[in-house]
Amino acid sequence: MGNRKVKNVLVTGGAGFIGSHTCVALAEAGYQPVVVDNFANSQSDVPDRIAQIIGTAIPVHQVDCTDETGMRNILDRYEDWHGVIHFAAYKAVGESVAHPLKYYRNNIGSLLTLLQLMNDYPLHHLVFSSSCTVYGEPDHLPVTEKSPVRPAESPYGYTKQVGEQIITDQQQVSPAMRSVLLRYFNPIGAHPSGKIGELPLGKPENLVPYVVQTAAGWRDQLTIFGRDYPTEDGTAIRDYIHVMDLAEAHVKALDWLHQQEAQETPGIFNIGTGRGHSVKEVVDTFEDATGIKVPHQFGSRRPGDVSSIYADATLAQRELNWSASRTLGEALHDAWMWQQTLKPPA
Ligand SMILES: NC(=O)c1ccc[n+]([C@@H]2O[C@H](COP(=O)([O-])OP(=O)(O)OC[C@H]3O[C@@H](n4cnc5c(N)ncnc54)[C@H](O)[C@@H]3O)[C@@H](O)[C@H]2O)c1
Repeated sequence: MGNRKVKNVLVTGGAGFIGSHTCVALAEAGYQPVVVDNFANSQSDVPDRIAQIIGTAIPVHQVDCTDETGMRNILDRYEDWHGVIHFAAYKAVGESVAHPLKYYRNNIGSLLTLLQLMNDYPLHHLVFSSSCTVYGEPDHLPVTEKSPVRPAESPYGYTKQVGEQIITDQQQVSPAMRSVLLRYFNPIGAHPSGKIGELPLGKPENLVPYVVQTAAGWRDQLTIFGRDYPTEDGTAIRDYIHVMDLAEAHVKALDWLHQQEAQETPGIFNIGTGRGHSVKEVVDTFEDATGIKVPHQFGSRRPGDVSSIYADATLAQRELNWSASRTLGEALHDAWMWQQTLKPPA
């Protein structure tokens, strides 16, 4: 072992869907993930499952990120901080419309607390979970990081835009701070071991959890919202990215931050595959990959859904030396492996 310095990376929301996979990617790259999660949207056995994959336990602190004292206690416990990846947030668009204050309090509150602590502690490198929702319905495809940010369609979307702005403002006055805003496209799939994946809570708002639950017989049929979009088969197009590819992008982003000598504004990167797939293509690919039919019907468009969006991810490739390597079929296969480990809701 020698005197090799441990590179502690604070992972807020590290027990969640993307956070848990990122802990695996961090550990595989030689970092020590230190999880803080209040388990508001994740299960208590996730850290054990991560440990089963990486072969060793990781430190986990059950603390709410808006609790400044609780967060200080965690920061005090470790000597060196290599950086923080901030996932902790609520993410259900529909719920955010019904409960805006809950979203503003949690998503903005946790970010403000974290930035305050970054100001007070030698914790200088931040990777922030943003979203392609900031682009709204884009005029040109694929979307680049220079595409305009459009007015948010929901309080959730607004928390991402405001979060980006708050980080940008704080960056201006913090010479030691390095930050990156990762604009995720549509994360799907699960770890290929089937030990971690996306936690299903109630009726999924996202396509792939709905597809796998329908295939498993939890749902009678899938409704495809809209078949009159201006796309080849009339269904909406998205850029689906395997969650392990997304997880690895965080490690690359952290490495990139440590190469930056100075930074006045945050680095902004689209994290997608650069390819769009229609909803119908996802269903067909799932059926081909698994041999299981997904009963489906067509419904009307959902308010707030854009027609087509996919990333130009060349900046991430050039700067971060990252690109997605897993296929849609692999992601759907892995999502199905994960689904099969789950118990049907009571
Ligand atoms: N999943 C997506 O499609 C998607 C797309 C774009 C951006 N994002 C963003 O990525 C991040 C992670 O998303 P996810 O899909 O992994 O969500 P998730 O709900 O699975 O994970 C979030 C985790 O944060 C925890 N958490 C929430 N509020 C907290 C708080 N105040 N203190 C401590 N822990 C808290 C939850 O318990 C959960 O474990 C979020 O910021 C989300 O907005 C997700």
